[in-house]
Amino acid sequence: MNQNTSAGNLVWQAASVTPEARVQLLRQRPVTLWMTGLSGAGKSTLAFALEKRLIELGHACFVLDGDNVRHGLNADLGFSPEARTENIRRIAEVAKLMNAAGLIVITSFISPYCEDRHMARELIGVEKFREIHISTTLKSCEQRDPKGLYQKARAGLINEFTGVSAPYEVPEDPCLSLDTSELQVEQCLHFLLGVLRPFINETAGQQTAKGRA
Ligand code: ADX
Repeated sequence: MNQNTSAGNLVWQAASVTPEARVQLLRQRPVTLWMTGLSGAGKSTLAFALEKRLIELGHACFVLDGDNVRHGLNADLGFSPEARTENIRRIAEVAKLMNAAGLIVITSFISPYCEDRHMARELIGVEKFREIHISTTLKSCEQRDPKGLYQKARAGLINEFTGVSAPYEVPEDPCLSLDTSELQVEQCLHFLLGVLRPFINETAGQQTAKGRA
């Protein structure tokens, strides 16, 4: 490793703005909703719909989406197990930074390995991490095939495609499971906002109480 970047020569710089000051400013507690599921399960649709709803409600939030992040930050990564692990590690670090800035983060990555999702939870912090399984079945995802990728994968044109030639490990104990072939977007938003309630309502309530005092 380059001497200039080795952790031994770095000193952590403490900020004078506290996390609590950001909570007061943004009237929300930061959290990462970690959406996991097969390609075509509806993760991005829900993530962006939730982001829109949260902005309408006056909350600062941001979606980190697999296809988008792989256009830039993770453009150098493929789909081997090792590359997927690095993909998730970098995303977890970015989500952690965004949470430190006070934002609500919604991630939309297949994140097929339990071990990688555990790593993300450890990096982000258990209290700020909520795992959401978008549990739409492989059959439904393949029928939808919005990007035509399942067809290509079945034809052998894409290697290591999740659900076809690469594994997807179902979450053992997700905070919420949503099958988008059974639920409408609006119903899913209702459940997702339920998970977020402690992070957006309690602090808003505190603010109101303070404002009245
Ligand atoms: S992850 O497994 O590393 O978490 P990520 O969510 O970033 O995956 O990217 C998944 C997206 O990349 C899919 O929605 C699909 O559009 C595209 N993709 C291209 N090749 C593959 C592949 N081999 N397996 C899964 N998705 C792929």
